[in-house]
Amino acid sequence: MKFKRSILITGGAGFIGSHVVRRFVKAYPEYRIINLDKLTYAGNLDNLRDIENAPNYRFFKADICDFETVSDLMRQEKVDGVIHLAAESHVDRSIKDPFTFARTNVMGTLSLLQAARLLWEGRNYEGCFFYHISTDEVYGALPMDGTLFTEKTPYSPHSPYSASKASSDHFVRAFHDTYGMPAVVTNCSNNYGPYQFPEKLIPLFINNIRHRKPLPVYGRGENVRDWLYVGDHAAAIDLIFHRGAAGETYNIGGFNEWKNIDLIKLMIATVDRLLGRPVGADMDLITYVTDRAGHDLRYAIDSSKLRDNLGWKPSVTFEEGLEQTVRWYLENGAWLDAVTSGAYLSYYEEMYAGR
Ligand code: NAD
Ligand code: DAU
Repeated sequence: MKFKRSILITGGAGFIGSHVVRRFVKAYPEYRIINLDKLTYAGNLDNLRDIENAPNYRFFKADICDFETVSDLMRQEKVDGVIHLAAESHVDRSIKDPFTFARTNVMGTLSLLQAARLLWEGRNYEGCFFYHISTDEVYGALPMDGTLFTEKTPYSPHSPYSASKASSDHFVRAFHDTYGMPAVVTNCSNNYGPYQFPEKLIPLFINNIRHRKPLPVYGRGENVRDWLYVGDHAAAIDLIFHRGAAGETYNIGGFNEWKNIDLIKLMIATVDRLLGRPVGADMDLITYVTDRAGHDLRYAIDSSKLRDNLGWKPSVTFEEGLEQTVRWYLENGAWLDAVTSGAYLSYYEEMYAGR
């Protein structure tokens, strides 16, 4: 079959990437979707079982840092658009192991940019060629005063994770400004939803409440995050990939700020209700622990540029999204158990042995 476009999505076996891959495979049967992922601890092909045999889908195991392999694949597949999500994504891991974050997020992105540029140069592709998915954490931390991050907020990253993402954002802009490669960057707030690795607040806590394990709240639980349902992020990526302007940055967020402790109490009440436990029975699982080093106080995104220019808005309220999310994790205990036990990793070791 001849496809209209051939799109490389990196990090498609991870949390957000799997939602983006699924959306594109289903919504665009006329596109060939190539999912390139290294399958680190965060990559899980179980996230994509429902579409893995689709005729317009191909999975390719590779490291974005491997320039030759990625360049060859892009040439063979005649890639005419890249959506880049592959990254090390967890702040706590970046504090323990910053090198891995610099390697993948900075050098990996640079390697991918260079491979994309060599393919793009001299050819006549339309629209955005390189779409880089980034985070609101590059802007630093906000005080508790109602201010919001806009696209003009200066970068001020604090964690090794956000420093590595900030660096990758600068490289993407440099490739646009220096070589003219059509590139877009988006900076999104905290995502939640199905298939998120249970090291992040929401799935970790749902799983712990399920097993009546302690809930480690950093500091006093006063930090604020701005939460967006992952399906709404995927919808924004689809829209911006097709209609966003090259060279632009768009913030993505749902104007949905929650103090951690309030969110945690809502999660406990929701899990208790759905499991038929007395609501609030698990409040005593809350355990205040030493704060995260350099813990950013507050993130809050102003996404009005995206709303006003491209008409995007979130489709679910936080209450609906959280309820759906809690239900999904409770109904998919086998997925949680496989991920927390690491069973899915030994499966890959067998599958890719010798390669
Ligand atoms: P994730 O950790 O769930 O998934 C990352 C994926 O990248 C995994 O499948 C992993 O195997 C793959 N990967 C890691 N290193 C790789 C490498 N060297 N080569 C190829 N593949 C590699 O991450 P996520 O939460 O889905 O985040 C995806 C992207 O979105 C990241 O770039 C992240 O910075 C950004 N982002 C995340 C959030 C959030 O709330 N999770 C918010 C804003 C932006
Ligand atoms: O803002 C976007 C970012 O959101 C993304 O770029 C990152 O990839 C993603 O991991 C997320 O970063 P956070 O550090 O905000 O997410 P995390 O789920 O780790 O933590 C959310 C808040 O909850 C934060 O204030 C720290 C706190 N927390 C987290 C964990 C894991 C706890 O209190 N206890 C915990 O055990």
